[in-house]
Amino acid sequence: MSQQWWRDAVIYQVYPRSFADANGDGMGDLEGIRSRIPYLSKLGVDAIWLSPFYASPQNDAGYDVSDYRAIDPRFGDLDDFDRMLADAHEAGIRLIVDLVPNHSSSEHVWFKAALASAPGSPERERYHFRDVDPAAPDTPPNNWQSVFGGAAWTKTPDGRQWYLHLFDPSQPDLNWDNPEVHEEFKSVLRFWLDRGVDGFRIDVAHGMVKAEGLPDTGGDGSIEMIGTTQAPFFDQDGVHDIYRTWRPVIEEYEGDRIFVAEAWTDSAERRALYLRPDELHQAFNFDLVLAPFQSADFRKAIDSEVANNAGVGAPCTWVLSNHDVQRHVTRYGGGVQGLARAKAATQLLLSLPGVVYVYQGEELGLNEVLDLPAEVREDPTFFRTNGEQIGRDGCRVPLPWAKEGPSLGFGSNGSWLPQPGDWPAKSVEAEDGVGGSTLEFYRQAIAVRKAHRATGLTWLEDPGDNAFAFDNGALVSVVNFSDAPVPVTGYGTEVLLASAPLVDGNLPAGSTVWFKK
Ligand code: BGC
Repeated sequence: MSQQWWRDAVIYQVYPRSFADANGDGMGDLEGIRSRIPYLSKLGVDAIWLSPFYASPQNDAGYDVSDYRAIDPRFGDLDDFDRMLADAHEAGIRLIVDLVPNHSSSEHVWFKAALASAPGSPERERYHFRDVDPAAPDTPPNNWQSVFGGAAWTKTPDGRQWYLHLFDPSQPDLNWDNPEVHEEFKSVLRFWLDRGVDGFRIDVAHGMVKAEGLPDTGGDGSIEMIGTTQAPFFDQDGVHDIYRTWRPVIEEYEGDRIFVAEAWTDSAERRALYLRPDELHQAFNFDLVLAPFQSADFRKAIDSEVANNAGVGAPCTWVLSNHDVQRHVTRYGGGVQGLARAKAATQLLLSLPGVVYVYQGEELGLNEVLDLPAEVREDPTFFRTNGEQIGRDGCRVPLPWAKEGPSLGFGSNGSWLPQPGDWPAKSVEAEDGVGGSTLEFYRQAIAVRKAHRATGLTWLEDPGDNAFAFDNGALVSVVNFSDAPVPVTGYGTEVLLASAPLVDGNLPAGSTVWFKK
């Protein structure tokens, strides 16, 4: 059977600055990633998605790109990249890179040229500039607020114009009405495809096209990335035209390469539009990131993803954690219960039809670090909301590889964010080869999934309140979301894997079991 690899892959997100630090500067790097490829191989993942490593002032941890064709010296250089890619491919692991087309860094040559040029010049046409109204010099062109807090408009240094930034002021939005922007990004795609990458994760994939005239939003103009609805700056229909021009570019290359969209939409129906056959291959389903640990919420999200994606022939794309959201162990209450539920939810995902994304460190059972001191925080959200929102640094704390050492094996020195005191026990060294550890659980779950590939989803009778069961064509998966054990003897006799051991034929609270069919 020649199923396309990306229809049921397990893809591991590497956040480069926090994965492994080979040169001891306290920040992860490409050589660090290369050195850990054997670890990823043993985990059993099919591909890696790398968050940005491009040249960047790092005002938004690299999502502010100043040169789309260069590696930031903090992470290495193009030779390091080529070596890392070659080693990944050698190990049978594909590599997806992050593309940030909604905005560049204010340090990008284009933006510097725009500021150095006059209003109305072709250089300014690459971004969204608007004149300051002399009658109301402090009133921005519309009411849009930045995702990170504050107005989405900042004045140019000469005070004559405003420019738009849906994110930080150092991330000016590119003007996708300008053909030059289209040409540039097609060329960037080719640059990385020529180097051999297997695909792109598209940052803010729902954001590039803005409604004509940049009209006010309803309400107070605030912009939420998470759980957003359609707005004059998000999920505009015109964005699909861009992807229809990108798909032929990627199709020119051999090797089944893909696009995965970070598209926050208000429904699975609208998300599926990005997955029509002439557009993108995958789009993260964030519904389970937002769902409470309840069977009804999970079931609703699953049904809707399965139905809508089948309608366009695209795989479901499941995710529980990433570098922007609170880690799922913590979302589910933290501690022993949070970890048990997190393992149950992960095991559930791994039995659903479709693709599963794993965020670095979840395989160790890492929690969100909630108590980072203000002086070490870097997320612009924290600063632009004056600390009202603590931001995303807590899920970006460097990985613990060893039980000891200045940064628990992350590097030979410290790490750019401090690791909590109880992380030695959650390090790779502490969990490797230890029965019952989260790491061994992930390894086993991925291996069992590979040997039992889902072909569909048929719901079975619920085993009890707040619990469900389904047959995925290859195994039977039973999930208990409730706080009490449920009887599961009716679903099978041979246990393939359980996130917590069954007790007298009962599945404990907050756990998942797979039975052989
Ligand atoms: C990325 C964030 C980033 C934002 C702006 C997001 O969706 O995942 O980390 O801050 O885009 O680029």
